[in-house]
Amino acid sequence: MPLSFSGMKKEFKKNSFTGFHNDVLDEIFALILFLFSPEKKKVKVPFRGFLLSGKPACGKTEMIKQVALKAAKHLKDKEINVKFQLVDANSIASHKWGEAEKRLKNIFEGPKAKTKHDKDSIYHTDEKNKLIILFDDIDCLFFDRDSSLSKEWTYSINQILFHQLDKLDNSEKIVIATSNKLELLDKALESRLLDYSIPDFSQNQLLVIMEKKIPKNLPGRNELISNIKTALESNPDANVRDLENLINRFYVKLIKNQQL
Ligand SMILES: Nc1ncnc2c1ncn2[C@@H]1O[C@H](COP(=O)(O)OP(=O)(O)OP(=O)(O)O)[C@@H](O)[C@H]1O
Ligand SMILES: [Mg+2]
Repeated sequence: MPLSFSGMKKEFKKNSFTGFHNDVLDEIFALILFLFSPEKKKVKVPFRGFLLSGKPACGKTEMIKQVALKAAKHLKDKEINVKFQLVDANSIASHKWGEAEKRLKNIFEGPKAKTKHDKDSIYHTDEKNKLIILFDDIDCLFFDRDSSLSKEWTYSINQILFHQLDKLDNSEKIVIATSNKLELLDKALESRLLDYSIPDFSQNQLLVIMEKKIPKNLPGRNELISNIKTALESNPDANVRDLENLINRFYVKLIKNQQL
């Protein structure tokens, strides 16, 4: 079910979010604003969606959540309602024949409108109601039709997605996808989306991110930060999640020693 602005605020608002990768975030934000703002409809942009690729934990999903929240906040002032639908393997995959296809179609079109009342449906989009659809880790859903992993249903849901993307009204709906395994993606899908390669965080950026995540009054905070620096020195490939694990281990130690 799509999240409303208040739902996004509740789930996505983070004091620990840093402005890293802001160049990409700003571009996506500007395009969303352009497409969703009614006064800016003079030029039709032949745009189907974005594809963000990069190594695990480089901040792809987080960036899109923040951009959606920012766009929803901005457009609320113009009385435009922006909703956010995250789609992952759980939302689509099904053993039941035809069910995955139906679910995917519903995400774009909403369940078939049976009554006039359905116009109020959470899926309904128009000049005042917009939807950002995030296909998170899209390679888990729409992998290459030529790949040996490919099953019949992948073939048919790929077709549905291509069809939906081709007829998408980008003044009402925007599709954004993320992937850390671009090589698994169907080339026909990749070519329909505007791609951004998201770099890894630098060691300094990682340190800033982790420092923001650690409460100021945590017992042993300095020791933990020094552990993080050591971990970064010994493993230059460490990412946010590796360091989060280190923080969690520190929490476990504090709890065990009854220091929390
Ligand atoms: N700019 C940022 N500032 C602070 N924390 C961030 C930032 N970007 C990402 N994070 C944090 O880093 C972690 C990993 O980010 P995220 O889940 O967005 O990575 P990802 O690139 O989508 O990874 P994957 O490819 O595995 O899906 C999360 O805990 C997230 O909150
Ligand atoms: Mg992700």
